[in-house]
Amino acid sequence: MRIGLAGVGRIGVMHAEVLAAHDEVTELVLYDADTDRASEMAKQLEATAVHTLDELFDSELDGLAVATATGSHAELITRGIAHGVPTFCEKPVALDSEQTEDVLAQVAASSVPVQIGFHRRFDPGYIAARNALASGGLGELRRVHVVSADPAPPDASYIRTSGGIFRDLHIHDFDILRFVTGREVSRVYAVGANRGAAFFREASDVDEVVTLLVLDDGTLVTAQGSRYNGAGYDIRMDVAGTDGTTVVGLADRSPLSSAEPGIAFPAGPSWVGFAERFRTAYAAEISAFIEMAAGRRESPCTVQEALAAAYIADAADLSLREGRVVDVEEVTLAGRSRA
Ligand SMILES: NC(=O)c1ccc[n+]([C@@H]2O[C@H](COP(=O)([O-])OP(=O)(O)OC[C@H]3O[C@@H](n4cnc5c(N)ncnc54)[C@H](O)[C@@H]3O)[C@@H](O)[C@H]2O)c1
Repeated sequence: MRIGLAGVGRIGVMHAEVLAAHDEVTELVLYDADTDRASEMAKQLEATAVHTLDELFDSELDGLAVATATGSHAELITRGIAHGVPTFCEKPVALDSEQTEDVLAQVAASSVPVQIGFHRRFDPGYIAARNALASGGLGELRRVHVVSADPAPPDASYIRTSGGIFRDLHIHDFDILRFVTGREVSRVYAVGANRGAAFFREASDVDEVVTLLVLDDGTLVTAQGSRYNGAGYDIRMDVAGTDGTTVVGLADRSPLSSAEPGIAFPAGPSWVGFAERFRTAYAAEISAFIEMAAGRRESPCTVQEALAAAYIADAADLSLREGRVVDVEEVTLAGRSRA
């Protein structure tokens, strides 16, 4: 298969390596606005570099992967489906839900499959938590706690175009919360703080945030997000039911220490970033994309699913700005049309 990849930055490099090593990929075509970066990567992976988007789309692709900056995703997905090319795109679909709704309408009107990059759906820990809950092993779900904490913030330029902490960082938690619990989020309340670099405030963003979410069955969820977790890359989910509790991300490499005397767990070394924490999940996600592009499976994470997560992010953003509890319905297409 001839697969195109747009964007070879932090995450794009990882997707490029997985695609180049994939049995079914015979040619990898790389494009990046930074043409030197694409050429350098192509040299390393024995891939082909092209210098314009038109050249990329003229390459008779069997599949397209998009890992460019968030603001360009909607256009690239739209061009992908217009060319009839099955498309994988990193999260989020767009900087706002209105644009995500437009993309969804175009995808729905076409028969070309699109997969959005919520890689946690391919992580063995989240899958096990989902199965434990679905099988009744945890009893009735009562509480969930999630943590997404980066050891150090990305560059100021990344933050300016990221869409803010909910659309960039917590969007993964919002998606996986729906995936693991099978429930929808009905209400949110968020409180944030600017304790770090000035560029967060200048981008109307925060670098620490705590969000309370209420699921449609009454389950209470707390979410902590941080750009300054010096201990390491901490991605966790505690799922607590009436009969048991299971924790995703509690392992030898969790960036934690026990305050209890004589406890040596976790053994370490701590995870420092998404590449090592989720390497297996990213590879499984890209394999699923190749299967989808080959026509052997449907999209494992549709634009519709991504829109549901985007609405939760919008509601959290509105709550943070207005300092009040927000019903997710307020920000959905149906809710906005009624208002
Ligand atoms: N799933 C995950 O775990 C995960 C992790 C990190 C980033 N992401 C997402 O992936 C995307 C990229 O993030 P990153 O951290 O790799 O960013 P990055 O800034 O490191 O890399 C982005 C790359 O895309 C190129 N680029 C930007 N706009 C372009 C355009 N219009 N056309 C062609 N090339 C363009 C840049 O030159 C750069 O090489 C973001 O949308 C981000 O939300 C997802």
